[in-house]
Amino acid sequence: MISSKPLAGEAPTLRTTEDRPSGSHPVLGTFELGGLKLPNRVVMSAMARAQTTSSNHAPIPLDAEYYAQRASAGLIITGGIYISPQATGAPNDLGIYNEEHVNGWRYVTDTVHAKGGRIFAQLGHSGGVSHPDLQGGNLPVAPSAVNPGSKVFTPSGFTDTVTPRELTRGEIRDIIEDYRHAAENAKDAGFDGVELHGANIYLIPQFLSDALNHRTDEYGGSLEGRTRFLFEVLDAIASVWNRGRIGVKLSPSLHGVGAFHATENLLPTYELVFHRLNDFRPAYIHLARTINDVSGIPLASLRYRVLQHFRPRFSGTMIGNGGFDLDAANDAIWHGDADLVSFAKPFISNPDLVDRFARGRELTPIDPKSHYQCGALG
Ligand SMILES: Cc1cc2nc3c(=O)[nH]c(=O)nc-3n(C[C@H](O)[C@H](O)[C@H](O)COP(=O)(O)O)c2cc1C
Repeated sequence: MISSKPLAGEAPTLRTTEDRPSGSHPVLGTFELGGLKLPNRVVMSAMARAQTTSSNHAPIPLDAEYYAQRASAGLIITGGIYISPQATGAPNDLGIYNEEHVNGWRYVTDTVHAKGGRIFAQLGHSGGVSHPDLQGGNLPVAPSAVNPGSKVFTPSGFTDTVTPRELTRGEIRDIIEDYRHAAENAKDAGFDGVELHGANIYLIPQFLSDALNHRTDEYGGSLEGRTRFLFEVLDAIASVWNRGRIGVKLSPSLHGVGAFHATENLLPTYELVFHRLNDFRPAYIHLARTINDVSGIPLASLRYRVLQHFRPRFSGTMIGNGGFDLDAANDAIWHGDADLVSFAKPFISNPDLVDRFARGRELTPIDPKSHYQCGALG
C-alpha cells in the first residue's frame, strides 16, 4: 500500500513494479511538506505569464484572483519572480525587490490563504537570456560571454539574445545577496516558502553547463566549480528560510535549446548537485523531465527516464514535472518515482484541475495563444 502521509523529507515509501489498481488515485492523497499539510499531491508548476499591467513589475489584483482560483492545488508555485532589475527577462515579468512588489505579493498570498491554499514564490534570474532593451541599454550578464542563442521578449517583440558580459566575482556575490534579499521579501510578503528557479535556460543552468560556463575561477572549471553558485545561492536563501521551505527546480536533460547542449560533463554535474542536495535537505527537488530528443548524445540514458535516474540519488521529496496527465501522475507516485506531480499548462485552462481529476471530468484543452500577456484570458 502507498502511505498517504509520508513525513517531509522522507524517501518514498513504495517502489513497486506492480500495476496500480484501476481507479486508485495516489495523486489525490495528502502529503506533508515542511510542516505544511497538502490536501493532495497536485502541484501547480511555475508559469510566468506576463499578465501585469504595472509599469514597475508589481503584481496586480488579477494575479491574486488568478492564483486564488487555483488554491485547491496541493501547492501553488508562482511564475518566476525576478530578484533584481538585472534579473529581468521580459517587459511584464514580476519582481520581488522593492516595497511595491512586497505589498502586491502580500495581497496575492493573503487572497490565496483566504481560499485555503498554499503558495511558494519562485525566485529567478535570467542571466544571459535577457536583452539590452530590458537592461537600460546595458548588456545582460552571465557566467561567461557566450550568447545563449535564444529568443527573448522585449518591448519591440521577440528578439535574438546577444553576447552577454561575463560576471566578475564581486558581481556574483552581489547577485547572491539579491537572492537573499528577495527571499527576505518573499517572507515579508507572506509566502509559505520559496522555490529556487534552477531550470530551463536561465542563470543557474548557465552556471551548471560547461557549454555556457567557460570560467576558470572557483565558479567554473570543474564539476564542483560549476555547482558552487547554486549552493552559495541556496545557503543565502537558507539564512532567511528554514530549509524545509526551500524547493529547487532543475531540468538536467535540457539539450538543443540555443547554445545549451549536453557535453559528457552535464549528467555528472547534475548527479553531483543531487548528491549535495541530500546534505542540504531542501523541501523538495522539482524535476523537469526531458522535453527534447536526447538520443545519440551524452544524455541518451535519460530518455523517458529522468525521474527514474534521479529518484534513487535523492532521499528527500521529489516533484515530477513535464507532460503529465492524471494517469501518468498516478503511476509516477504509485511506482515511487515521485512524491508529488506538478502541472503547468493544464492549470491555465483548468483552474479547478484537482476537482476535475477527483470527479473524472474532462479537461478544457490547452490554448497556447492564451499563455502570455493575455490578461484574464485562459
Ligand atoms: C506560459 C508558461 C510559462 C512558464 N514559466 C515558467 C517559469 O516562470 N518558471 C519555470 O520554472 N517554468 C516555467 N514554465 C515551465 C512549466 O513550469 C513546466 O515546467 C512546463 O510547462 C512543463 O509542464 P507541463 O507539461 O505540465 O506544462 C512555463 C511554462 C509555460 C507554459
